[in-house]
Amino acid sequence: MSNRIETPLDLLHIQLKNRVIRSAVHSFLPSKDGYMTDAEYAMYEQLARNGVGTIITGHCCVDELGRANPEQVNIYADCFTEQFRRAASTVQAEGAKFIPQISHAGPRAIDNDDLVDVVARPLKKEREARALTVAEIIHIEQCFIDAAKRLQSAGVDGVQLHAAHSYLLSRFIDPTFNQRTDEYGGSVSNRFRIVEEIIGGIKKACGDDFPVLIKINIDTKHEDAAAYHEDMVWILRRCQELGVELVELSGVDFINQPKTATLYYLEEAARLKALVPELPISLVGGVRSLADMEAILAAGIDAVSLGRALIAEPDFVTKSLAGAEKSICVSCSRCFVLPNLHPGIRCVWAWKAEKARQKVQKMQKSAE
Ligand SMILES: Cc1cc2nc3c(=O)[nH]c(=O)nc-3n(C[C@H](O)[C@H](O)[C@H](O)COP(=O)(O)O)c2cc1C
Repeated sequence: MSNRIETPLDLLHIQLKNRVIRSAVHSFLPSKDGYMTDAEYAMYEQLARNGVGTIITGHCCVDELGRANPEQVNIYADCFTEQFRRAASTVQAEGAKFIPQISHAGPRAIDNDDLVDVVARPLKKEREARALTVAEIIHIEQCFIDAAKRLQSAGVDGVQLHAAHSYLLSRFIDPTFNQRTDEYGGSVSNRFRIVEEIIGGIKKACGDDFPVLIKINIDTKHEDAAAYHEDMVWILRRCQELGVELVELSGVDFINQPKTATLYYLEEAARLKALVPELPISLVGGVRSLADMEAILAAGIDAVSLGRALIAEPDFVTKSLAGAEKSICVSCSRCFVLPNLHPGIRCVWAWKAEKARQKVQKMQKSAE
């Protein structure tokens, strides 16, 4: 029988109760000093109660100098560890897995005048980033390893390395950004070296059985897309050799996709999966209905990851299984700015739907 979204998925060291993963999404709900708020915990609980088998947190910062958002959850020091215990146990009580995403913003870091990147480059607003030294690369690797160790001690089910969307690790992998001439640039094995050293370091510090996942761009803005495809095949095979639990495939341009587009990366993801069949893969990008989820599984991909559909409707999975035709998310991406303008509101469509519901309720009451 073919896999359905309710089918459990056996990874190397853990079993996911179904094929649905909440992809990492920065919620704008944490406090400005790097801690989850009650609203953040409630969000995770609601997702876990509504058919999401695995929850990956929004990007958590491993280095004080690599923060991407003022209200980002931090994990760069011991004081940030305990908050993950409550989140993990809340999610695990629903039978779901809780996997923090760990990240370094590189040149997109805030509150930092000394910006660093894989190579030196001019940035917007007449700023520039300088190239990381090898000693600094090794320091950043250690920050990721220390973060994983802290998270393991808080009882999480694994960690996901954020190596997508132009954050620091993805910039090493992608030749669009990486023109280094040392052992961290050039060949794909060199460009992947920082990630590989982090994975090896985490396995050494936390044990071989501690699950390490990775999110990576399936595509590139580099002119040589065919070469990047070959890079991806190499990277996925290497991930399998390194004992990576699951690779989540995303892309560089999800935000620029036409609003009506769905399953942006499915074709290439299916090609890659066929070439590296033993490696568990999930796909994120433009999943807006049960039919979309089923199409991903039918293409041979192991799991389905959801971003904006779960911002719009945290119960999107249960609703879909109960017959809802499609998500209310129209990929407007206002969820990237709305929470800053109107704290607490994460999706304009969800907000409108709630207002309409309240209006009907009020009318019904006054008619009684
Ligand atoms: C508001 C918002 C915040 C996001 N934060 C993260 C993040 O912290 N880490 C990450 O890897 N991706 C992040 N993403 C990207 C999503 O995980 C996902 O890859 C992307 O939205 C495409 O999937 P979708 O079409 O299902 O939304 C974010 C997306 C949105 C809309």
